[in-house]
Amino acid sequence: MARDWTPTSWRSLPAAQQPEWPDEAALDRALKQIASYPPLVFAGEARSLQAALGRVAHGNAFLLQAGDCAESFEEFTAVNIREKLRVILQMAVMLTYSMGVPVVKVGRIAGQFAKPRSASTETVGGASLPSFRGHMVNDPAFHAEARRPDPERLVQAYHQSASTLNLLRAFTKGGFADLNRVHAWNQEFVSTSTEGRRYEQVAAEVERALRFMRACGVDTEQHAALHEVDVWTSHEALILGYEESLTRQDSLTGDWYDCSAHMLWIGERTRQLDGAHVEFLRGVGNPIGCKIGPEATAEWVLDLCEALNPARIPGRLTLITRMGAERIADGLRPLLRAVRDAGHPVVWACDPMHANTFAAPNGRKTRHFDHILREITGFVAAHRAEGTWPGGIHVELTGDNVTECLGGAEAVGADDLDTRYETVCDPRLNARQSLDLAFRVAELIRAAG
Ligand code: PEP
Ligand code: CO
Repeated sequence: MARDWTPTSWRSLPAAQQPEWPDEAALDRALKQIASYPPLVFAGEARSLQAALGRVAHGNAFLLQAGDCAESFEEFTAVNIREKLRVILQMAVMLTYSMGVPVVKVGRIAGQFAKPRSASTETVGGASLPSFRGHMVNDPAFHAEARRPDPERLVQAYHQSASTLNLLRAFTKGGFADLNRVHAWNQEFVSTSTEGRRYEQVAAEVERALRFMRACGVDTEQHAALHEVDVWTSHEALILGYEESLTRQDSLTGDWYDCSAHMLWIGERTRQLDGAHVEFLRGVGNPIGCKIGPEATAEWVLDLCEALNPARIPGRLTLITRMGAERIADGLRPLLRAVRDAGHPVVWACDPMHANTFAAPNGRKTRHFDHILREITGFVAAHRAEGTWPGGIHVELTGDNVTECLGGAEAVGADDLDTRYETVCDPRLNARQSLDLAFRVAELIRAAG
């Protein structure tokens, strides 16, 4: 694409999934306000993440991208953020320990507030209202005022992202993530379960290794790598006005970065090659992702790689496949082959959630742990067959003991779904299901190696 890019060039192209803001002037005011605020992340950080993802692209590291389907304005507490971080750290320890490669940790956090929807309106009992599009747009309650897109919510999303990121930085650099606390991360309810006991075994091994290093004269207190971790932020770049208002020119390189998060991705419903989302993200220097559903062809994927990563920078582009447990086995291999043969250095990640959603008998949207695991199994097998690296997983989870996904070691059943179904959008794995998944993934990849 030779067209000139500017932070506003997306505006001349069709932008799918944008809210119908009732008051353009109010929208304009909100976006100007956000544009005057400080960036949430810095260009140098985005470059560090891109370098880490470059190692994933080369098969020397693994990507764990995880967090809420949609963050909530209501569930915004330190405990909520800490518990999510804790599960991500626990999964990462298990993956690192079992696979022997670094795990790049990216949260769906500190900005994941906007949702694409399959229909722009929702009809209940004869009444039609705009669909809920995430807390940065409107409220899920089914009445007209709640569903009215309100630009003030964009400003609120900025502030909540800033606070969340502040706490994440404190937790990850201020001692909470210290590897010496690997046991302390295990919650009560987890330590008494099968997954908890397996985690305890790994934690004990890690502690033994740390003791061994100290006995050999390594001062483990002095190694930042053992006390601090990087947990990067990411969200779907959906509401392009918001993303544009946080797009800033890096003083060091002169390049443009979307400073709303370290990594941004394009969703399955907004990945049109001639659309506004691809146009916007092709011009920012951040590492970016794109969801790839079962209908994507190899030709289309190659065009996407050319559009988003013409310079073929390793780590710049992550392709997040979400094909469904049934379709992954046949659907993925032609894409892997095409991208490999064209020499595009992408990260391949598996989102085993979004094409495995179904309605339970009580009407709740749910996913089954076994389908999630089956899609990852197919993903790993396809990579093994093509000689490519199954670079990571992209999952929706929470640190709370919710009952939103079925199955797992504790066997959440359809009758349990109502007990704690708290998501504002898609069903998430709970802490135990997440730990269970990390074990299984590590086993799968080790067996494939
Ligand atoms: C999501 O990641 O929450 C999502 C909506 O995914 P997809 O674009 O793959 O449907
Ligand atoms: Co989702």
